Amino acid sequence: MRNSVVALVLMLLPWSAAFAGDPEAGKALYPVCSACHGPTGQGNQAMNSPKLAGQEDWYLIKQMQLFQTDARGTAPGDMHGMQMGAMAKGPQLKAPGALENLAAYIGTFPDEAPVKTVTGDAANGQTLYAVCIACHGDKAQGIEAMAGPRLTGQNDWYIVNQIKKFKEGQRGYHDSDIGGRQMRPMVATLLDDKAINDVVAYINSLQ
Ligand code: HEC
Ligand code: HEC
Repeated sequence: MRNSVVALVLMLLPWSAAFAGDPEAGKALYPVCSACHGPTGQGNQAMNSPKLAGQEDWYLIKQMQLFQTDARGTAPGDMHGMQMGAMAKGPQLKAPGALENLAAYIGTFPDEAPVKTVTGDAANGQTLYAVCIACHGDKAQGIEAMAGPRLTGQNDWYIVNQIKKFKEGQRGYHDSDIGGRQMRPMVATLLDDKAINDVVAYINSLQ
């Protein structure tokens, strides 16, 4: 019995250790992020900067890596992505363990529900959301195994913007961005702005 428990723990160890960042070390990296994302990562619509509090560490780390490798934030016309891309490339953020530490620090922020700004037909949105469940979950809670991030709790205006970016090819355009490339065809079912607002109104209702 004890041996099998030890074996199980050893098996699980590499996974649980994978993102074991040090929040104290990450704190020193965060001040530069504060200007746009807010001191507790609450997001700032005036700066087009999304909420970071409440995002899963694996997703934060992956997005930073995408920005660092130009797989996100370099599409023509993507001014906001370019701003963020420049911020992700600071030399101190490229040091081993830096992104894990930063994500661990962001993980200490309170996850407060953002103010809702998008209205739409949530009942129609529920129908449209059916196709999203496989990767984002029936409560939009995110499914790490599908690389689908949590959508609930995010700023609704940001979700609208990102859906448009996937539609316009400003996200999910790079060969190495496997998750983004999977996501792109999924928004083809959202035919117009009304459909986008409807699905986001439904996601809002899941909070
Ligand atoms: C000059 C303003 C600015 C600064 C400073 C900044 N960001 Fe951003 N960040 C943005 C904008 C704007 C976006 C949205 C990009 C888009 O629309 O695709 C963004 C997006 C992100 C995303 C993607 C979130 C998602 O759900 O898609 C992450 C993660 C992120 N920022 C983390 C950080 C971290 C960590 C720092 C500090 C090292 C930082 N940002 C500094 C402006 C900024
Ligand atoms: C096949 C799996 C899959 C399906 C189905 C899917 N997505 Fe995604 N979605 C993803 C992945 C993977 C990402 C992360 C991409 C990345 O890493 O940049 C993502 C990212 C997103 C983002 C960006 C979130 C952020 O914080 O930046 C939004 C918004 C989104 N999806 C909305 C939707 C909606 C709405 C639907 C249904 C119409 C949907 N997705 C269906 C896989 C999927």
